[in-house]
Amino acid sequence: MKTYIGLILLIVLQVSCKSDSLSDKEIKVHTIKGKEIGQAVLTKLGGSLMQQMKSGGVKKALPFCNVAAIPLTKELSRTHNVTIKRTSHKLRNQNNKPNLEEESILKQYLASISKGEKIKPIVKKGQNGKVHFYAPMKLNNKCLACHGNVSKQTDSIIKSLYPNDKATGFKDGDLRGILSVTFND
Ligand code: HEC
Repeated sequence: MKTYIGLILLIVLQVSCKSDSLSDKEIKVHTIKGKEIGQAVLTKLGGSLMQQMKSGGVKKALPFCNVAAIPLTKELSRTHNVTIKRTSHKLRNQNNKPNLEEESILKQYLASISKGEKIKPIVKKGQNGKVHFYAPMKLNNKCLACHGNVSKQTDSIIKSLYPNDKATGFKDGDLRGILSVTFND
């Protein structure tokens, strides 16, 4: 009888531990899905942004980002049955503010960068029991017109849209923030 109870306890314990951590397969599957969604975000946001830049420069593209970035991300979230967010340690839009889990991922990435380590996407179960995918978002030279050492004119447009902007002064290759994807199922 005792061994029986012991065995049952062991099984219960194992099952409850399992529910907190993800199997290798779950990590793999969500890494692939997360990367696909990241690519879709780049194509959708980046594509529209470059179109705006071409037709009217930073002056047109900045206000476009201001109204379109969040709705475009929401639209992609619905298509993929996930919640997509872009967030940062140096925010432009306060509506993109990191939650505690995202803050700790940002800190982890920044610490790794300062040690010269490579940073990779992270898949983990969150406090809400859902699976999360996080990926670093680095800047390239296409981003610098709005996030680098910007011109006076650009700066005044940014400040008019985002009085508390912290997202300029970056260099090519810097960590701009993270993509945070929460899977609904
Ligand atoms: C035309 C100007 C422009 C360019 C070019 C641009 N951004 Fe942005 N970026 C913005 C604006 C405006 C916002 C705020 C959007 C909003 O209101 O949600 C923003 C927000 C962000 C955010 C969300 C976090 C925050 O601080 O609010 C990230 C991450 C980001 N940009 C990364 C990039 C990267 C990476 C590139 C290059 C691939 C890039 N941006 C190119 C204007 C730009």
